[in-house]
Amino acid sequence: MANESFLDTARWYDSLFEGVLGGLRAMAARVVPPKKGMKVLDVGCGTGAQLAIYQVGGCEVSGIDLSQPMLNVAKSKLGEKAALTNSDAIRMPYPNDTFDLVLSSLFLHQINAPLRSAVLEETMRVLKLDGQILLVDFHPKATGSIKGQLTYYFISTIEFFAGWEHFSNSRDFLSRGGVPKLAMGQGLKIRKTFVVGNGNLGVYLLRLA
Ligand SMILES: C[S@@+](CC[C@H](N)C(=O)[O-])C[C@H]1O[C@@H](n2cnc3c(N)ncnc32)[C@H](O)[C@@H]1O
Repeated sequence: MANESFLDTARWYDSLFEGVLGGLRAMAARVVPPKKGMKVLDVGCGTGAQLAIYQVGGCEVSGIDLSQPMLNVAKSKLGEKAALTNSDAIRMPYPNDTFDLVLSSLFLHQINAPLRSAVLEETMRVLKLDGQILLVDFHPKATGSIKGQLTYYFISTIEFFAGWEHFSNSRDFLSRGGVPKLAMGQGLKIRKTFVVGNGNLGVYLLRLA
């Protein structure tokens, strides 16, 4: 199944966003530093920018995404060694207890509430019992500062231009409390939370309860 909203986006995604997101990706990798041989899965991996950091650190990297054009860009970055799969994240083609780290950045907000829960369930299934989950997404409680508000409007504008479904899922994600509420609903424990982007972005480290 193709993910139409990302068919054209793949060509310019990195040029448009990596300047802004580079710092966030580096920070996420500091929260769970890469280790040689660590098995890492990126759910909704897009162009593979976060996986690239883990691959350089010696990890065995896998990525799953619905958009083949996004995966093509990821492949050009990560090469043949990366296991990239065009599949829906609600049905991951991996056995139980496979990965040391399952990460996902800027993906959950764009899908609807039942799909978010289904993706987290799959994430928990493919994660090793002592594994870690690293989620990067919009944070529900933006600060009241001017900078916080401006960043919020900047993000909202980008979300608006990503299409109506994407935008309304994103609003719904925030109104339901974002990652913290979602994780709690799935029985996951949040071990660490880092809020950046003037209060608008969260990096969350979770473990199975
Ligand atoms: C906003 S992009 C984020 C990409 C990347 N994680 C990043 O940090 O730049 C969201 C990605 O999720 C993918 N996606 C959307 N729905 C999906 C699904 N049901 N299963 C797997 N990937 C999906 C899209 O194709 C897209 O590449």
